Amino acid sequence: MKILLIGGGGREHAIAEGIKKSKHNPSLYAFMAKKNPGIAALCEDFLLEKETEIEKVIEYAKARNIEMAFVGPEAPLAAGVADALWEAGIPVVGPKKACAIIEFDKAWARNFMKKYGIEGCPAYEVFTEEKPAHAFIEKLGDVAVKPSGLTGGKGVKVMGDQLPDLEAAKAYTSELLEKGAVVIEERFIGEEFTLQAFVDGKSLVFFPAVQDHKRAYEGDLGPNTGGMGSYTDAGEILPFMLPEDLEKAKKIMQDTVKSLYEETGTGYQGVLYGQFILTANGPKVVEFNARFGDPEAMNVIPLLETDFVEIMSAVVKGTLGNLPVNFSKKATVCKYAVPAGYPEKPEKDIEVTVGDIGEASIYYASVYEKEGKIYTTSSRAIAVIGIAETIAAAEKIAQNALENLHGKLFFRKDIGTAALIQKRIDHMKELRG
Ligand code: GLY
Repeated sequence: MKILLIGGGGREHAIAEGIKKSKHNPSLYAFMAKKNPGIAALCEDFLLEKETEIEKVIEYAKARNIEMAFVGPEAPLAAGVADALWEAGIPVVGPKKACAIIEFDKAWARNFMKKYGIEGCPAYEVFTEEKPAHAFIEKLGDVAVKPSGLTGGKGVKVMGDQLPDLEAAKAYTSELLEKGAVVIEERFIGEEFTLQAFVDGKSLVFFPAVQDHKRAYEGDLGPNTGGMGSYTDAGEILPFMLPEDLEKAKKIMQDTVKSLYEETGTGYQGVLYGQFILTANGPKVVEFNARFGDPEAMNVIPLLETDFVEIMSAVVKGTLGNLPVNFSKKATVCKYAVPAGYPEKPEKDIEVTVGDIGEASIYYASVYEKEGKIYTTSSRAIAVIGIAETIAAAEKIAQNALENLHGKLFFRKDIGTAALIQKRIDHMKELRG
């Protein structure tokens, strides 16, 4: 089978590896903006083009007789790549625009949750004007401020974190209103976790829960990033969660898929990503994304024991409910090495070399290859992942690998360490009383 992968980051490298491990021996083709050396090595052929160039995607897919596609990032989904591929007769894992709206329009997503009574929705309102927005900030007193459109995970700011007080929340809102609608919502207090699922229009297959770390520096300090690293435990839940927390989050995602069909008349076929905050009153929804997380994809895809291409086929045929999907019960720790100065003043075009990474796996993200050498861009460069019986053992594998990447890079040593995980457990204990 000939499979086309759209996207060229670390997440897509993990997807490419999942596809290539299939016992059906698929031929992989990639459509990506920059040459990701990890993906290129797994492909028969690739085209370097902007991933939102829908006509070029279709032209390339037809020229290579592609039989099925996987869309990694959100931007091509928002541009309607899934619709265009289906129209061209190519089944695709990645929702059509009618459903991908759940990620690319945050105001739509909140109004949709409210309309269908989906649990975990905060008090919120959507604004296009400054005066009522400022009044609502005053009324709620403790808020999160979100631009309605796509921002690569870096647009949301919350009080008690990036926004020191009400005045800062108002100023940020005014800045965002110049570009479009803004969602102001009640701030949730708790621990974040991610739940991802394959969806075939009606059935969901859930991956183990993951915790990502958005802040650039150790101790959860510094500016927000796309995610500096993430971990899973050996099982479905994280150490600070109770089994019922996971069940509630799953129910929210199931209700979301069902209601999306009612609202749009289109089945959601792809990966649904739920970003939750576990509060004293259970899981609340921060946002939904229409794709795997990055880095969260790298934690969970390597755990799949079921054939990735068989899962893709079940997603596009709507037969996921009949396919038993199994995971290896291991813990994972993924850490990103990022360019010095990231995210504010990243040092681009710096050569990176990979030494002995031991048992770890490596995924190339925003790097490019030129004359056989690998160079940084302005974003996250290389992810390493350790997989072991415990989080502690997985962390050691990942950390050892990071120390053998050479170049002007930095990473967070604390992700996956016992001390940071204990902090999460203590935080939840305190909140739950
Ligand atoms: N790691 C956050 C995201 O993929 O949206």
